[in-house]
Amino acid sequence: MKKIVILISGRGSNMEALLAANLPCTIAAVISNRADAEGLGIARNHGIPTAVVAHKDFADRETFDAALAKTLDVYQADIVVLAGFMRILTARFVNRYRGKLINIHPSLLPAYPGTHTHARALQDGVKIHGCTVHFVTPDLDHGPIIIQAAIPVLQDDTEQILAERLLYQEHRIYQQAVRWLCQGQIELDHNNYVRFRFPKQAGYSLISPGLE
Ligand code: GRF
Repeated sequence: MKKIVILISGRGSNMEALLAANLPCTIAAVISNRADAEGLGIARNHGIPTAVVAHKDFADRETFDAALAKTLDVYQADIVVLAGFMRILTARFVNRYRGKLINIHPSLLPAYPGTHTHARALQDGVKIHGCTVHFVTPDLDHGPIIIQAAIPVLQDDTEQILAERLLYQEHRIYQQAVRWLCQGQIELDHNNYVRFRFPKQAGYSLISPGLE
């Protein structure tokens, strides 16, 4: 069984959904760059080993990432799952885990990379918003896409309501992506395309607002 390590910085709801998903892998550890990350307590309650590599203890990104990689080696991570991990990783780190490092982002990439994705989507008046699981490359929030979920933006949506509705979908697609990766059903090819061992087809289309 492959070993995965989940990296978090805060609440850890995506991590918690992965812990509950009965995945075909061993969750070897949860690591945070912040000692006060809420998710650490949740992981401990699930009996998962935790570690803190505090970015504040390091002079620069290179030395922080080197310490992070060392900790990942302790747990012999085959796959590294970023779940609300709020640090930009160096190209050296990202390249070391090429094809084994994935992230979830709360927008339909390549739209809205970066932060405040829900507020920006509302501001633009988009009618469809969503979330994306992608392989991480040195190009921030632009890695090859594994799976996306789309949801309609409703008339009375606030940033918080939209975020909550989307979070539910994040939890659904992240476990699917991790499952595919653990089972060797997807891989990142040399051209940076995500290859599925079996072709995956869309189930239905989302039109928003709905047709009459
Ligand atoms: C999620 O919205 C995720 O897409 C983004 O950060 C948030 C983390 O939430 N990268 P949680 O810590 O998993 O609850």
